Amino acid sequence: MKPSVFLTRILPDQVMAELKRRFDLKYNALDRPLTQPEMIRGMRGRQAVISMLSDRVDAEVIGSNPALRVIANYAVGYNNIDLKTASSRGIAVTNTPGVLTEATADLTWSLILSLARRVPEGDRLVRTGRWTGWNPTQLLGMDLTGRTLGIIGMGRIGQAVARRAFGFGMRLIYHNRHRLPDRLEKKYRASYQPLSRLLTAADIVSLHVPLTHETRHLIHRGVLDRMKSAALLVNTARGPIVDEKALVIALKKGTIAGAGLDVFEEEPKVHPGLLRLPNVVLLPHLGSATVETRTKMGFIVIENIQAVLGGTRAPNAVG
Ligand code: DGY
Repeated sequence: MKPSVFLTRILPDQVMAELKRRFDLKYNALDRPLTQPEMIRGMRGRQAVISMLSDRVDAEVIGSNPALRVIANYAVGYNNIDLKTASSRGIAVTNTPGVLTEATADLTWSLILSLARRVPEGDRLVRTGRWTGWNPTQLLGMDLTGRTLGIIGMGRIGQAVARRAFGFGMRLIYHNRHRLPDRLEKKYRASYQPLSRLLTAADIVSLHVPLTHETRHLIHRGVLDRMKSAALLVNTARGPIVDEKALVIALKKGTIAGAGLDVFEEEPKVHPGLLRLPNVVLLPHLGSATVETRTKMGFIVIENIQAVLGGTRAPNAVG
């Protein structure tokens, strides 16, 4: 008999085919976020659930299914899952690290470049028919060469962002819970800074920390006040790391110059203040959104489920 799996959204074709081949698969064919009762109903009696970062897998959901053995999250972040409850019930939780590093780093640079060179503003100007021709002072942006990039969180994704900074001739500073070994600092030509120093020195601050109790609202009003008034903030990690209300005020007052956000405090809701500002670039959580990456993520999920249901430790167990 094939193991029983519940999948909360539709995944890329190749992954769906493989899931159907290997498992007794039940999935949310509506392909929209499920309510808590729908989630509970969907996973009833299933041995594995494949959850998205947008699914809240809380104590009630976990407790509703005594047959559940593994929660395989289709994401590298797993702040949407109640790890404590899962572990107290002996349920494995897994994620999909590694394969989305490069895609997320690319997306981070898309935001940096879009902001620095005012790409969305230019696009809007052309589309709305308001462009009257080349103008020597129109939509002037900022050079990246010679500027300082400050990376907060130098894990896999932070380091991939750092690697790309070479190409733009930027200076690199970083802050991390643990300082990187000398070898890596040399490799990235990155210098470690206390957070307060990074904030005052960076022209662009990019966030790459996981969402935890410690990092929730890491970027609050006091932190924004320390940044340069010409600085840009980029967040491709998790929305609640930034206090959105404080960010809107800072952007309006000119405390900082701009923000590029791929993630939001209450996705898919976006603070209305952000929608009205010209100096922000807003994306709908596209960090890992490439065909190749989302397919690889699916195959990692399959590997993790098979390991747990086969009685071995999952390659990407968390918690
Ligand atoms: C993740 O996997 O945590 C990313 O946010 C997906 O884009």
